[in-house]
Amino acid sequence: MDISFLLNGETVALSGVSPTTTLLDWLREDRLLTGTKEGCNEGDCGACTVMVTDGSGAKALNACILFLPQLQGKSVRTVEGVSGPDGALHPVQEAMVAHHGSQCGFCTPGFVMSMTTAHLNGATNYDDQLAGNLCRCTGYAPIIRAAEAAAEQPVPQWVKDDASAPAPSTPLIPESADDLATIYAEHPDATLVAGATDVGLWVTKQLRDLDPVIFLNRCEDLKTIEIDENEVRLGAMVDMNDMGAAIADLHPSYGEMIRRYASVQVRNAATVGGNIANGSPIGDNPPALIALGATLHLRKGDARRSLPLQDFFVAYGKQDRQPGEFVEAVSFPRQPDRLKCYKLSKRFDQDISAVCGCFNVTVADGVVTQAKIAFGGMAATPKRADAVEDALIGKSWTKETINAAQAGFDTVFTPMSDMRASARYRLESARAMLARYFAEDQGGPVSVLEVSA
Ligand SMILES: Cc1cc2nc3c(=O)[nH]c(=O)nc-3n(C[C@H](O)[C@H](O)[C@H](O)COP(=O)(O)OP(=O)(O)OC[C@H]3O[C@@H](n4cnc5c(N)ncnc54)[C@H](O)[C@@H]3O)c2cc1C
Ligand code: FES
Ligand code: FES
Repeated sequence: MDISFLLNGETVALSGVSPTTTLLDWLREDRLLTGTKEGCNEGDCGACTVMVTDGSGAKALNACILFLPQLQGKSVRTVEGVSGPDGALHPVQEAMVAHHGSQCGFCTPGFVMSMTTAHLNGATNYDDQLAGNLCRCTGYAPIIRAAEAAAEQPVPQWVKDDASAPAPSTPLIPESADDLATIYAEHPDATLVAGATDVGLWVTKQLRDLDPVIFLNRCEDLKTIEIDENEVRLGAMVDMNDMGAAIADLHPSYGEMIRRYASVQVRNAATVGGNIANGSPIGDNPPALIALGATLHLRKGDARRSLPLQDFFVAYGKQDRQPGEFVEAVSFPRQPDRLKCYKLSKRFDQDISAVCGCFNVTVADGVVTQAKIAFGGMAATPKRADAVEDALIGKSWTKETINAAQAGFDTVFTPMSDMRASARYRLESARAMLARYFAEDQGGPVSVLEVSA
């Protein structure tokens, strides 16, 4: 594959690149730019964070699960390119020194890159901005103090990268959904790569050879978010940060769940299409979207079809998707906000759900008129709790109805025990989430983060 991008302001043109070479390996092994560190090699620790700029702005991304072709036409800045041409330190670097933000230093380049990107973007919510960077020895307080001190300094001109670099045309990096439809029809056996937050791990952890590979990230027409009075439609390539921002106003609880989805670096890459197409039983978007009554839009060549999202998930590892068919968009009706999303994970941030329960219950004159309840982590696929819904619809919206409906979880779900949770914990959590939804609806305190003595 022929690709071109800017690296610390200099044009890099590569030919014959293996499509699954990660940026991290290439930086360290080919360019000997070893400032970018390898910690986990699976998107969890942030030691490999770099700043990538394109038409949508500057983003922190994990280089370990970023394939070189995903950089086509973009600008990459590594820790070697953070200080000025004359060696002047970036305000973030100065502040890290002044506030003792580094001990062993292994995590430091990753922190500096996350902080440099946040500084450039004027983002000051550091708990969020730095949740994807792990430090085992300094502790976070000095690092956050450094970020706060740097925020008062202006952004140096030298880190403002060009939004677009030269990009040779390469069929396996299509520029639109139409191009993708054509090339995928010709190579129905190809692996599609959206944000690579799953596929990256197939390469770095499972050592899989993937060939051919089609990269979707230059299909701008798959990144649109359309909201009108009837419908919300999200293109398959909408990433989690953009999605979270768009959803937060409409369904704040869903927006908050996306804020807890992985880390800034992963949310900048992970797409809603990838989160659905991977068929994972523990992806966070499918239960929320199913509870909103979402429709999935698929395309193969020029043929399009739509189906209720819940019907897409046929069985574990099996989805209703034909060879050469891809996810084009997902949509759901505009509706009054009754949605609550409850994500239970072992860690509050940067963790995949053990159980994710999403509740959308409509009540009129004290009677339940509609209930859509969907769960992740409770079955081999994201699944609706139809027995619970049936036990609610037409009944009075009371604690007695909730108590009676809780039994429905035992009929509809037979969860498994695994490293994230036992089957018993999962079932009890599901029952508790229904009680929580009711309590929250009655105005009671429900979140451990909100309860005060
Ligand atoms: C550190 C870390 C933390 C994570 N935390 C969470 C979390 O909190 N919640 C959560 O739900 N997930 C989490 N994940 C999993 C991952 O981020 C999601 O599954 C993500 O949405 C996948 O999207 P992607 O764009 O990266 O997909 P990719 O990895 O590019 O692709 C995933 C799969 O979908 C296919 N695909 C992608 N796009 C399309 C399309 N348009 N049409 C057809 N097929 C397509 C690919 O071929 C592949 O099979 C985490 C992952 C990591 C590495
Ligand atoms: S090496 Fe840990 S996130 Fe990349
Ligand atoms: S300084 Fe040692 S891991 Fe952060």
